[in-house]
Amino acid sequence: MGNVVVFDHPLIKHKLTFIRDKNTGSKEFRELVTEVSMLMGYEVTRDLPLEEIEIETPLTKMKSQVISGKKVGLIPILRAGLGMVDGMLNLLPAARVGHIGLYRDPETLKPVEYYCKLPQDIEERELIVLDPMLATGGSAVAAIDFLKKRGATSIKLVCLIAAPEGVKAVTDSHPDVDIYVAALDEKLNDHAYIVPGLGDAGDRLFGTK
Ligand code: PRP
Ligand code: URA
Repeated sequence: MGNVVVFDHPLIKHKLTFIRDKNTGSKEFRELVTEVSMLMGYEVTRDLPLEEIEIETPLTKMKSQVISGKKVGLIPILRAGLGMVDGMLNLLPAARVGHIGLYRDPETLKPVEYYCKLPQDIEERELIVLDPMLATGGSAVAAIDFLKKRGATSIKLVCLIAAPEGVKAVTDSHPDVDIYVAALDEKLNDHAYIVPGLGDAGDRLFGTK
């Protein structure tokens, strides 16, 4: 089974409180989502391979470590996943970004695909799928299915808030995928919204509704 990491860092908990708060407006919401994504990125990239290069300090030559050639791809699930891209790109400026457009049909709750543009070499990249909300898991499972059909071999999923149902759906369908969440919430409501959650992530990021 894939590993599920629930963050317990005080900075992440603090910022997530204000992300959840319904009185937080879109500007601050976007800034906080960027900051939390960057903080999560610190842990998500922990296993990136290193190699030694030789450099010269002002005093002497030395061997020192840099991230080795492993290429990373960030895959936001549109729309709300876009909110997590900048924070991750701050840490991984050379990462390529692929977009998968999915929306959840409000009647069937099934994900509907409407857009896809991926880096050509996804099979060589370590892919990090970004979506703030993991509710039923339908969207994340569909996005990961989609990436694997196109040859992806290494995938992580990073979400701000997950429901237990979503974590189960992803680990059942994709046991090889590690999941990173800032918080694991209690449950889904009758409309498959995460409770307590943060409401509709896309609407809060982009001021729609
Ligand atoms: C939200 C969210 C996820 C999905 C989660 O997107 O960003 O993609 O719902 O729900 P699930 O786990 O039950 O599939 P939404 O469909 O609202 O689209 P949007 O980002 O365009 O608003
Ligand atoms: N999508 C959201 O934006 N929020 C939820 O709580 C569930 C799905």
